[in-house]
Amino acid sequence: MLKQLLKRKDISRIMVEADERHGLKRVLGPLDLVSLGIGIIIGAGIFVVTGQAAAQYAGPAISLSFVLSGIGCVFAGLCYAEMASMIPVSGSAYTYAYATLGQFIAWVIGWDLILEYLLASSTVSVGWSGYVASFLKDFGIIIPDIVSRAPLSYDPRTGWAFTGAVINLPAILIVLSAMTLLILGIRESASANSLIVVIKLAVLLIFIGVGFFYINRENWQPFIPPNEGAFGHFGWSGVLRGAGVIFFAYIGFDAVSTAAQETRNPQRNVPIGILGSLLVATVLYIVVALVLTGVVKYPMLNVPDPIAVAVDFMGEELYWLRPLIKIGAIAGLTSVILVLLFGQTRIFYSMALDKMLPGRFAVLHPVYRTPIFTTILTGLAAAFFAGIFPMGILGELVSIGTLFAFVIVCSGVLVLRYTDPELPRPFKVPFFPVIPALGAVVSFLQMAALPMDTWIRLTAWMAIGLVIYFFYSRKRAVG
Ligand code: ALA
Repeated sequence: MLKQLLKRKDISRIMVEADERHGLKRVLGPLDLVSLGIGIIIGAGIFVVTGQAAAQYAGPAISLSFVLSGIGCVFAGLCYAEMASMIPVSGSAYTYAYATLGQFIAWVIGWDLILEYLLASSTVSVGWSGYVASFLKDFGIIIPDIVSRAPLSYDPRTGWAFTGAVINLPAILIVLSAMTLLILGIRESASANSLIVVIKLAVLLIFIGVGFFYINRENWQPFIPPNEGAFGHFGWSGVLRGAGVIFFAYIGFDAVSTAAQETRNPQRNVPIGILGSLLVATVLYIVVALVLTGVVKYPMLNVPDPIAVAVDFMGEELYWLRPLIKIGAIAGLTSVILVLLFGQTRIFYSMALDKMLPGRFAVLHPVYRTPIFTTILTGLAAAFFAGIFPMGILGELVSIGTLFAFVIVCSGVLVLRYTDPELPRPFKVPFFPVIPALGAVVSFLQMAALPMDTWIRLTAWMAIGLVIYFFYSRKRAVG
């Protein structure tokens, strides 16, 4: 049995299968990839989660959380780049793991990635709903809370409660719309992505440029609010928990590797795309966090649209900026939802081709040539979570799931250098073994700082995955 758990998929076979499936032209260069990365990365994390994490965990020191989390991501990003250069196909951590770490770890990562992609698309949709409600309100159109908020809320002290709302309808509608586009085979094109990237960057840069003049330094005092007695509630432990929570804002850079097959010289350009987009996001996030907490006192940021609230604080003369910020956020979040859902359908598709999942996950629609069953299932599941659950719960689960994948990928890079030194690695992580080791450690520390409830949910999710693997996938999988 151990032999099967460790069974690897042949890299040359992965390449042949990938070519048969795609036959894509290699047209993307380094700048395209950086732009692709920014398009995926910048979303609800900065537009929503930053405010909530500052209000609940770290205060103005949320900018330090961004530094910490950004460093962890760069380390993990280098490891992803090494993996992607060994296997330059449109895969994901699942594909890399199957070729290098064996079937069992591949399943664990594939199952875990559902948290990263499917649940993240739900999370971003909840953020989208908040900005849409806020945008329409500016024009006198009120969407009642009862149909635009999560019916469930969670407080670690008191547990689950009903909020009085029935459903988050806008969040459901955006997921279902994205699902429909994906069924029709409409992927975001490179030019649409570039346009959205420009809008997103412009909105954040205007926010920084204008907000700078409205910073009240007193709002930064104390920069690290004193701990309130429990781990993670302000103080240094709050900075660490803040890092685990806003880690969500960095999620997506790993998806740059999915464009490997459409890239010229992927061994060089994929690492540039991953690291370049991460760098831009990190700098931007730190500065936005400083301006945000400088303009508004942090306890007031626990709202669905913190950036817009900060603009309100800047005064009436800046009313013109409000709709701009919101349109930018809405456009940006829409593209993130689309890419995340797309990523999930393709991971399921790959797992089904490997027979880890039932064959129907890989069946293509006769006309649109898209994986129809998978796309509908993914869309419905994402819509369900988006309609029912609050953003905080979803986002923390996404963060812990993705951090777990990073721990495995970083450890994998470390182990493989010893077990398989002969595998060709056109891109190698520098300062080996320090960087992969630190990548795993920093990711694990951020996981460790997340609330216990989040750990319990991750454990339950992985336990379900193990049952499916041992009773179904292991028996059918092809290696
Ligand atoms: N990083 C993405 C976001 O913040 C998932 O929306």
